[in-house]
Amino acid sequence: MYMETKLLTSSAADLALAAELLQNGKRVIFPTETVYGLGANALDPDAVRSIFEAKGRPSDNPLIVHIAELSQVEEIAEEIPEKAKLLMDKFWPGPLTIILKRKSIIPNEVTAGLNTVGIRMPENEIARELLSLAKVPVAAPSANISGRPSPTDAKYVIEDMNGRVEAIIDGGNCTVGVESTVIDMTSPIPTILRPGGVTAEEISALLGEVLGGKEKAENKETPKAPGMKYTHYAPSVPVRILRGSIAQIESFLAKRENAGILTFDEFNLNTEAKQISLGSINNPKECAKNLFRSLRDMEKLGVCEIFAPEIGNDGLWSAIKNRLYKSAGGNIINATYKEIIFVCTGNTCRSPMAECFFNSLPNKGYWGTSAGIFAQNGQKASENSILSMKEYGIDIKSHLSKPLTPKMIERAELILTMTKSHKNALLGLNNSLSGKVMTLSEFAGEDGEIPDPFGGDLDTYRSCAKEIKRLVKKAYDRL
Ligand code: TXA
Ligand code: MG
Repeated sequence: MYMETKLLTSSAADLALAAELLQNGKRVIFPTETVYGLGANALDPDAVRSIFEAKGRPSDNPLIVHIAELSQVEEIAEEIPEKAKLLMDKFWPGPLTIILKRKSIIPNEVTAGLNTVGIRMPENEIARELLSLAKVPVAAPSANISGRPSPTDAKYVIEDMNGRVEAIIDGGNCTVGVESTVIDMTSPIPTILRPGGVTAEEISALLGEVLGGKEKAENKETPKAPGMKYTHYAPSVPVRILRGSIAQIESFLAKRENAGILTFDEFNLNTEAKQISLGSINNPKECAKNLFRSLRDMEKLGVCEIFAPEIGNDGLWSAIKNRLYKSAGGNIINATYKEIIFVCTGNTCRSPMAECFFNSLPNKGYWGTSAGIFAQNGQKASENSILSMKEYGIDIKSHLSKPLTPKMIERAELILTMTKSHKNALLGLNNSLSGKVMTLSEFAGEDGEIPDPFGGDLDTYRSCAKEIKRLVKKAYDRL
């Protein structure tokens, strides 16, 4: 439902108005030092429900409660362990969310039914002023449409949320740029659930042993099933983590069209790909600040795929790495991988399914992509393809269709088509491709074809997906 959204400044009059809106159960988006938050009165279940509605967020993901004064902690939390007090002393106000046992004053809507609550005292002056004026704790997730990169500037908030909330306060750029660190202080050993603006190193210097907070070390030869995780922080263009030396990355990009790459100032890539630098490789604060903005700006450049650098896990880098891995949905590729292109007609049903099944198998030095012989640029996968892949835990929502181009044909190690007529169409274009182009069935050692499920019902797509999965596995075993 569209509504008039008031665009407010940080003037005293506007903040008073925003505080009044919060007290009346309305939603106000406000700046914090991490990212913008979509706030409502945390003590009002209806107001909290309306946050989930505006974001399109599943209601099983709990919200952080924002406060202005230390005294508010006792109103919300049941027990405050000594170590939690140390954290508050040292890091509040600031980018740290502390999970404690909740009191019943906090409704189930905030905590998704958990008996704990996440509490944070932000440092941003506008946020502090607003929270003091409102006099109620404010539940606030990041102010993006669920799944999109968190907004770090009012212009991105407006992009996602204009017409969906009662008011937005423009407070300029967020200085930290990645969300707060979330630490569970109810477990026997403090456990970082999300790396963020306060580093694991800073916390363990204060508390001693701390668990979590680092992206798991990835085995370089077998990246964790790419494409298997649901994407988060994702722009509308697919993101992949790209591993390799500068020279390998340059030659990888030289074979691609319309690609974008996030880099560092020091990289100076020699490439036609669109580049956005996160900042200096020696300055994680700068890179964190620029991270979400860069992802959003990249999609506006009209690229059809985005590559992001592999980075380390020290200090603030672990928060940046965590966000990039999530936005790539676990898709990690090596610049030296050989590419197998799965081809169908429109690149919205069969070939994206084949691509994603292939990439969900343990890596063997190949990666799958897909294209269509008569495809348009930038169409999403069909709804029934998305649904039938979801049943395998594979998210193909960020897929965008592309036509098969001469450059793709040239760089491919192998091109596997869904039908014989796709194959013949390609060989008709260029007879010298005969070693490189086969039907998927043929490469799997069979004789059939995969008919087009386009326009069919969900069951048609389900059996199509099942057949593709079987053949992709068989083809994979022959590599
Ligand atoms: O920096 C931030 O934390 C921003 C600003 C607006 O404060 N907020 C933010 O909220 O990032 P959100 O909803 O996008 O992320 C909150 C994270 C989620 O991963 C959620 O699962 C976790 O905190 N969380 C909240 N309450 C929790 C609880 N009781 N137990 C475990 N995790 C919790
Ligand atoms: Mg969020």
